[in-house]
Amino acid sequence: MEALVLAAGKGTRMRSETAKVLHEILGRPMLAYVLDTLSKLGISNPKVVLGSQFEEVRSFLKRDWEKAKVVRQSVQRGTGHAVMTAGKVLRRASPTAGDLLIWPGDMPLLQAETLRQFLSYHRRSGAAASVLSALAADPHGYGRILRSGGRFFAVREELDATEAERRIQEVNTGVYVFQTKPLFRALREIQPVNAKGELYLTDTIEVLAKAGERLEAFPLALPADAIGINSREQLAQAVRVVNQREIRKHQERGVTVVSPENTFIEPGVQMGRDTVIHPCCYIESGVKIGRRCQIGPFAKIRKGSVIGDGAVIGSFVEVARSRIGKRVLAKHLAYLGDVSVGDGTNVGAGTITANYDGVRKHRTQIGKNVLIGSNTVLVAPVMLGDRAKTGAGAVVLAGTRIPKGAVVAGVPAKMIRKGHK
Ligand code: UD1
Ligand code: CA
Repeated sequence: MEALVLAAGKGTRMRSETAKVLHEILGRPMLAYVLDTLSKLGISNPKVVLGSQFEEVRSFLKRDWEKAKVVRQSVQRGTGHAVMTAGKVLRRASPTAGDLLIWPGDMPLLQAETLRQFLSYHRRSGAAASVLSALAADPHGYGRILRSGGRFFAVREELDATEAERRIQEVNTGVYVFQTKPLFRALREIQPVNAKGELYLTDTIEVLAKAGERLEAFPLALPADAIGINSREQLAQAVRVVNQREIRKHQERGVTVVSPENTFIEPGVQMGRDTVIHPCCYIESGVKIGRRCQIGPFAKIRKGSVIGDGAVIGSFVEVARSRIGKRVLAKHLAYLGDVSVGDGTNVGAGTITANYDGVRKHRTQIGKNVLIGSNTVLVAPVMLGDRAKTGAGAVVLAGTRIPKGAVVAGVPAKMIRKGHK
């Protein structure tokens, strides 16, 4: 099946210099959510209509979604116009004209399972057009599904709706499947006579109804998944939804999240059983945390980090691109960046890996069962052998290799007890 993602709009209501579809929800642009769900449905080469901030969005696609085919809509005259603009490319891709799945780029939360069900209902119904709808407690801002005697016959935009129509709670998610031929026939008939003066894709429904075509609206989307992101407020709402989903997954696998509303976990994190996440932590995508770990309160664990079983990453500790061994204790106030820490090591309060020299980042290697005194600065690159110790306030200069079992102290740190090679 062909798929068309509409992402050319300005996103005026975001009041942003950045393209709306590139605004991030827990570390990923909203457009990435849409494309990801499409690929779960087996569609890896959707057509994407771009217009506003064209170059910015195109280069994102080039980098992360090479297979997506870009269609340019230079002037944004509405969702109907966006689909017309893609007409040529669609006909070239699929001259036999089957079904076309249309999805707005600002609807990132719909889940693959809902879509699968929607597509199978559509196929069984044989409709010329099917709309994925939702029963919203607060339908404000969405197009309403109009039915007569139960039969779906039109979508009315909020701004063009009567009082009575505005009370309808079944809303259009903006996701549709159309049979391509009747769709393009109907697009030729729509007019920009509405509150926005735009060519509305939604107006094709009424045209098709009048032509006697079969139409369906399936209220399958959960209201929380059916939010279109037009404003910063809705963006924050989307963060809440994605975060809740992620946290629930971890809970089901045996992780305690003490305060879900104050914890942020990006998609793509792995955590072992009986790990406890205390309040106010932020954990980035790709992080792996073992079993029985204690994280936070107030910890940030960034991309590229792996935390071993039983480790404690305590309050005000930031870990970035680091491998933290089993049972490591870093209980308070530390920055651990580009470091590998061996099992059983104790990282004192105030420890900093000074990993950046203004030009490049450097790595730090810390052995097993090391004791790092409070307020130690490790100016990378440095190496600390197993069981080494640093005194409180030590500054270990770049290029230092502290042998196993040795003790260093002072500024700059000098050996006060020799270890062994
Ligand atoms: C649209 C629907 C509305 C539905 C809602 C769901 C129409 C007329 N209305 O309203 O029924 O309830 O989505 O969120 O379709 N776009 C283009 N080119 C354009 C205009 C828009 O590509 O010329 C893209 C936008 O980037 C956006 C999507 O189409 O991703 C929807 O446009 P938007 O202006 O956000 O429509 P809504 O007012 O939200
Ligand atoms: Ca929208």
